Amino acid sequence: MLIVEGYVIVSANGMLADHHHVMPDALKFPQDQSFFGAALDRSDLIVHGRHSHEQQARSDERVRLVLTGRIEALAPDTEHPNATLWNPQGASFEEACHRAGVTSGNVAIIGGPPVYELFLDRYDIFWLSQAHNVTIEDGIGVFPQVPQLSPQQILTAHGLSKKETRVLEAAQNVDLAVWRRN
Ligand SMILES: NC(=O)c1ccc[n+]([C@@H]2O[C@H](COP(=O)([O-])OP(=O)(O)OC[C@H]3O[C@@H](n4cnc5c(N)ncnc54)[C@H](OP(=O)(O)O)[C@@H]3O)[C@@H](O)[C@H]2O)c1
Repeated sequence: MLIVEGYVIVSANGMLADHHHVMPDALKFPQDQSFFGAALDRSDLIVHGRHSHEQQARSDERVRLVLTGRIEALAPDTEHPNATLWNPQGASFEEACHRAGVTSGNVAIIGGPPVYELFLDRYDIFWLSQAHNVTIEDGIGVFPQVPQLSPQQILTAHGLSKKETRVLEAAQNVDLAVWRRN
């Protein structure tokens, strides 16, 4: 069985990057980054779009699927070790996981917005970190429907509920909400 989990940190207004599609330093907090790194270390497979590689010290050890429209279905990724390129138009998620050699365990979905959206009906858990003191004007929302809808409204509409909130950085008002499928 595959357990699908989403991971993101957003600003108070639901943005994960600025209008240049760059994640600003204002969204980087040690407690969140160490939570994220540890979560990826315990994941069996990481899934992300071509611009959302996590670029951490242990990244090359992690098995991953990289979404791209530049191939027809599935192909080896010559730029990253342990990585497979995947075009969802040409191959199902299950086929992609099989090609990556992962048929059970935890799958970490780490963005960007089109990839988070693709899995909205599949998340078992969505880990939503939020920096409540940070606002990014004209940024890129975690889901394409943000800011017309909040991330919380979108997760609720797709059958998830907030079960727990953990404080990550009290002084800077950063927390982590754990959303689980109902
Ligand atoms: N704050 C956070 O926690 C967080 C999390 C994730 C990302 N980010 C930031 O967000 C920014 C990246 O955003 P982005 O919008 O560029 O997203 P992205 O999803 O990383 O990259 C977009 C590219 O991925 C491929 N792709 C995505 N969905 C696809 C699909 N359904 N089918 C085929 N190909 C698909 C396409 O590649 P091709 O052009 O090759 O077809 C597309 O151009 C970065 O700055 C990153 O650091 C922040």
